[in-house]
Amino acid sequence: MRESRLCPLIILQVVGTLGLLTYLHLVKTSRERNPETLQITLRDNNPYANVEFSGKLSHFEKVAVLVMPPRERDSKTLQEIWRANDSYGNVGLGGKWSPSRNRSASSSEKVAILVTYRDREEHLKIFLRHMHPFLQRQGLDYTIYVIEQHGEEQGFCKGLLYNVGFTEALKDDPSYDCFIFHDVDLLPEDDRNLYTCARSPYHLSVAIDKFDYKLTYVALFGGVSALNTSHYRLLNGYSNLYCGWGAEDDDMARRLYKHVLAISRPEPDIARYKMLSHKSREPRDDNTDKRYLLNTALHRAKTDGLADLQTANYSVTSITHKALYTHILVNITKRKPIKHVHPRKIGKRNTN
Ligand code: BGC
Ligand code: MN
Repeated sequence: MRESRLCPLIILQVVGTLGLLTYLHLVKTSRERNPETLQITLRDNNPYANVEFSGKLSHFEKVAVLVMPPRERDSKTLQEIWRANDSYGNVGLGGKWSPSRNRSASSSEKVAILVTYRDREEHLKIFLRHMHPFLQRQGLDYTIYVIEQHGEEQGFCKGLLYNVGFTEALKDDPSYDCFIFHDVDLLPEDDRNLYTCARSPYHLSVAIDKFDYKLTYVALFGGVSALNTSHYRLLNGYSNLYCGWGAEDDDMARRLYKHVLAISRPEPDIARYKMLSHKSREPRDDNTDKRYLLNTALHRAKTDGLADLQTANYSVTSITHKALYTHILVNITKRKPIKHVHPRKIGKRNTN
């Protein structure tokens, strides 16, 4: 008897609870979908947690606002901050800035920021808007170079582009002491993450939101890293042979190992980055030779890089001093297929 009376009550309670949960879920998701009241809640220890957005900002603008320093964010509406940043603190033509144009040029490090690039206009816009104020708050003497690939070659040849960027930047200004190699989709979150070569080789993008703010492996040197000019020369720059996604940075890690240069890093609570999301989930343009190239990396370290850049399959199409960066446009012609030969034979014959 008692059981039969309890049963409908329990069913009623379950149905009621489920109804309430569905209602709460619908309210929550409709709030999230509404751009007027979009609220992005980051992790509790993030200074940008609970930022309220009103008005319409694109996804990329919201990300850029989220990595702005709190003192700017607190005083104005987010749209005002976004627009106020338009002045970029009087950046000189070609994306050059220094704390005081009058002080002697030798008093501090001169930094070249090299950004390899292809077909990511939306990212570049956000990157520049974020990086100029960030670098200026650090009081750096810097220039931003964007090295863009065009031409027949399908794979993105990041190492080759970095070598071209290094060479052309030094022609532009031979006094650079420090080079920062920077992905266009990474935005530093903390002003204390200093863009310097004082601890070269230095890996700066230690904690990226996409990877739960954790270093994915200890030899990682990709994302954002710094090498001083003499180390870069000693290392013979990057390999020119990696075209397509991945591993050019792992090749560089092998060069560091060869020269007994240990990677140093800032503390992970400072070296935090936000990664801009990629619009489409197109298949990654993977580098099918990368396993072979990595296995033979140490055999090519001396010859493949700055040393044979003259004969690499590229030409500089143009160098333009734009308002916010120096644009180096590089034509990369189709590579010859990479012959897989035994490591002992590398260097004896001109195989690649
Ligand atoms: C790739 C690297 C890349 C890293 C990112 C590795 O598998 O070889 O090029 O930087 O993944 O986590
Ligand atoms: Mn990326």
